[in-house]
Amino acid sequence: AITRQYTFNIKYQNFTRLCHTRRLVTANGQFPGPRLVAREGDQVLVKVVNHVAENITIHWHGVRQLTSGWADGPAYVTQCPIQTGQAYTYNFTITGQRGTLLWHAHISWLRSSLYGPIIILPKLNESYPFQKPYKEIPILFGEWFNVDPEAVIAQALQTGAGPNVSDAYTINGLPGPLYNCSAKDTYKLKVKPGKTYLLRLINAALNDELFFSIANHTLTVVEADAVYVKPFETDTLLISPGQTTNVLLKTKPHFPNATFFMAARPYFTGIGSIDNSTAAGILVYKHPSSNNHFKKLPSLKPTLPPINDTGFVANFTRKFRSLANAKYPANVPQTVDRKFFFTVGLGTNPCPENTTCQGPTNNTKFAASINNVSFVLPSIALLQSYFFGQSNGVFTSDFPQNPPKPFNYTGTPPNNTMVSNGTKTLVLPFNTSVELVMQDTSILGAESHPLHLHGFNFFVVGQGTGNYDPNKDPSHFNLVDPVERNTAGVPAGGWIAIRFLSDNPGVWFMHCHLDVHTSWGLRMAWIVLDGPQPNQKLPPPPSDLPEC
Ligand code: C2O
Repeated sequence: AITRQYTFNIKYQNFTRLCHTRRLVTANGQFPGPRLVAREGDQVLVKVVNHVAENITIHWHGVRQLTSGWADGPAYVTQCPIQTGQAYTYNFTITGQRGTLLWHAHISWLRSSLYGPIIILPKLNESYPFQKPYKEIPILFGEWFNVDPEAVIAQALQTGAGPNVSDAYTINGLPGPLYNCSAKDTYKLKVKPGKTYLLRLINAALNDELFFSIANHTLTVVEADAVYVKPFETDTLLISPGQTTNVLLKTKPHFPNATFFMAARPYFTGIGSIDNSTAAGILVYKHPSSNNHFKKLPSLKPTLPPINDTGFVANFTRKFRSLANAKYPANVPQTVDRKFFFTVGLGTNPCPENTTCQGPTNNTKFAASINNVSFVLPSIALLQSYFFGQSNGVFTSDFPQNPPKPFNYTGTPPNNTMVSNGTKTLVLPFNTSVELVMQDTSILGAESHPLHLHGFNFFVVGQGTGNYDPNKDPSHFNLVDPVERNTAGVPAGGWIAIRFLSDNPGVWFMHCHLDVHTSWGLRMAWIVLDGPQPNQKLPPPPSDLPEC
């Protein structure tokens, strides 16, 4: 194992898409941002220097951060932001993970332009448990806004209305030829016939789960969230914000100069994600003797499932299974120390006095909550106040373990959707095995929520539609080879059950990875206490940790 050093200079850079030029907040002037490459076991040091007016933090999404919680990155959870002119070096080691993850800004909506791939190669002398690819190619999905997304979310929070949606979805930063004034901004994946490519798919979009497909080609899924899975073939993938998936693309043996569309567009038309437009790129077969210019667009577009196709998504997500073999075991907790039941969904907050709001009901603001609590970020970091024993007035440890009223999903909205506000946490002793059932409420309209847990991978042991039944459903849980991930969708009007072991001391954020839902409060934090051994304790913070 070695140490890999990176510097991210956060600075402004102009980019033009859809004939609109915008000043983006970037790392090193790149959009999407630079690649971080490491082998399993390597130490990674990233010095982030803030040259912009905005406060910055960076999160290494999916990196376990074992006893390195100070490097996790969510603003006001594990650190105060890096202010203008300041620098902070994120210092962590990649342990027991291999595949693809992503890094992104973790403050307000700055990840709209501050994101990039994390590529974790196997240890030296270790190989993939699948055919060695000829080439590896990161493909990042994102969103392009013609206006500043910071202004979009600021206005939405002020008026209480749903935010304006982005103007395009992007593939490696490019919207592609199906949008106006965008033909030259098209991602082209150039391939040779008869080879196997590893595509590292990353959804870095702010607010949309996306379908993705390449016309006339089948993809083999081999990894999800930096954990190998049992390979399966599919024409179309669903990938949620925060999720990463490695797929093998086998190119056809003879296709000189052929071109095919690849396309990505949203799965759900929930609040804050109403858009039917499609990002497109082109798969180009290179002919050895051609100069590789193609004149017209491919004729063949992939067929994507219809919007809101919950049936496709339920089937697709069930196909993910851990390898669960001797080399890559699935350490699913077989017994449970603590059980939690969380309702997740949208609700409302009252409009402040003497103002008018444009929320879903008369004079309310949109809010989102877990067990009816809309989480309020403190003004100093939770991890710091916890570590130095100064929780007083910063947070409480009484996050509800169950919804305030027994939840019954009927599909009909109740008339009172008010949430309560608070900075509440749940405390877990070290090595507690946790079962958490998350039930989507869908009380303001159907919504699916890609829930992301920091600091851990969890096993998705069950999923279903309608109400979770604690008497019947657990008998169908998969405790043998469930998929292990860091982000999983709570289906609209349904539930998922996850299990994880609290083997990582620190303060760990959990939230919906649709940024608008996070901003509305669909977030909370777990506190995991130190274990007895020295290597089970959170060390003191690094000396350059930013102050608030
Ligand atoms: Cu990728 Cu807390 O997020």
